[in-house]
Amino acid sequence: MATRLTRQQAAPPGPKDVLGLRSLRRFRQNAPAYLLELARRYGDMVRFFFGPFPGYLVSHPDWTHQVYVEQAALFHKPAIMKQVFKPWLGESLLTSDGDFWLRQRRLIQPAFHSRRIESYAQIMVAQTERALQDWRAGQERDIHHDMMALTMRIVSLALFDIDVSDEVEEVGRAIEAGLEITNAQFNRLVQIPDWLPTRENRRARRAQAVIDGLVMRLIRERRALGRAELAARGDLLSMLLLAADEHGRGMSDQQARNEIYTLFLAGHETTAVTLSWAWHLLAQHPQAEARLHEELRAALAGRPPALADLPGLTYTDWIIKETLRLYPPAWVTSREAQQEVVIGGYTLPRGASVFISPWVSHRDPRYFEQPEAFLPERWAGDFEKRLPKGAYIPFAAGPRICIGNTFALMEARLILATIAQRYRLRSVAGHVVEPQPLITLRPKNGLRMRVEALPAAVPFNPTTTPISAPA
Ligand code: HEM
Repeated sequence: MATRLTRQQAAPPGPKDVLGLRSLRRFRQNAPAYLLELARRYGDMVRFFFGPFPGYLVSHPDWTHQVYVEQAALFHKPAIMKQVFKPWLGESLLTSDGDFWLRQRRLIQPAFHSRRIESYAQIMVAQTERALQDWRAGQERDIHHDMMALTMRIVSLALFDIDVSDEVEEVGRAIEAGLEITNAQFNRLVQIPDWLPTRENRRARRAQAVIDGLVMRLIRERRALGRAELAARGDLLSMLLLAADEHGRGMSDQQARNEIYTLFLAGHETTAVTLSWAWHLLAQHPQAEARLHEELRAALAGRPPALADLPGLTYTDWIIKETLRLYPPAWVTSREAQQEVVIGGYTLPRGASVFISPWVSHRDPRYFEQPEAFLPERWAGDFEKRLPKGAYIPFAAGPRICIGNTFALMEARLILATIAQRYRLRSVAGHVVEPQPLITLRPKNGLRMRVEALPAAVPFNPTTTPISAPA
């Protein structure tokens, strides 16, 4: 009797590349473009081979929602990710699963409660103003470098109450080395043991020592304060050091180091990348840039933005949303199935590596018209509410949703508004801007831009200010 192959029995479609060598090469050349090509050619669930290992690219919003939210308990962070990140982050919020992850998440979550986050707004604006003191009209600057230094200072002050201004350069270089090394390791089929004295391993150790030095110094200094003073300070670093489990056991220095390291890294690079792409996109789209300047002039009239202004800065918000759509800093996330699991009617085996790529999902023409176009206006009205769950996922979703999403959105809008009130950034001829998909989607070779001053806005005073803007 003839039997029809059901989806449960059939493997998802995908390229015929059994050894996976072609996929591996394409992945290494330009992974986001390759994943997009796979989804466009084969559909919402694609099986591809990464060398001999199958990977499943899930792009239908209902199915990404299943992986992130509805069936989240069946998926863990992949073993390869834990292995590659271990020397850097150890076991922390980003890399752990199960009860350990839940305990850490509960411990750290209060630092991100909305009332707490609101108190960070002032730090964000003040640090941006401080950074702008070095800016001059006509200068050519590496804006990505500027955004990294700024967000690094903000996250350190907001979460840990420390000023890292003196360490920014050295730590920045160490982080860059870390991203390049971990990325190379992800793209390798067989890992080189970390005890071998290869050039890469030695570079990794030097970079780890720089970041470790900073984090451990912080912990030592803070521990020296004693419990009462720690409790009085109330920042996340102090909270972590005070935290104790139900048996009264405190967090070891090593565990505190892992969490601080993770929050420090995850908490600045991604927002810096978002801002860099926003500046690049604005320079390419003068109409959007003009509308942004108009909104800021009307709402702020030259004064620095504050938290209370954000609800009125709708266009600023759309620019950030649209930037996160086109250049999601976390351009791919991955999970490992803990047991056989059915997604979209396909049965994925235990151990299957599942990839969800916001880069791909955000370019789906079923939900985003003209998906490659930068159109902040698309976010008007209830556009976001009407999107199916799982279609717009810059921060992932479900229990593992980015813990810093509200922090990041507030920070990106405040920094954009503070700078765009005073300056416009122009692309520099000959400087090619292209995404470099490491762990995050950075602009390769930085982002060289020229600073142009905008005419100063006169703070609005109804009795003395003339209606027309000054030249
Ligand atoms: C625009 C900025 C940001 C983007 C696009 C972003 C994106 C993401 C994404 C997609 C995840 C989920 C990863 C996965 O499930 O595999 C994540 C997790 C995480 N993010 Fe963010 N993030 C941003 C900013 C921040 C900030 C500001 C912080 C902290 C201050 C932060 C801390 C974390 C942490 C600790 C996790 C792990 C959470 C967990 O697994 O429980 N992120 N982020």
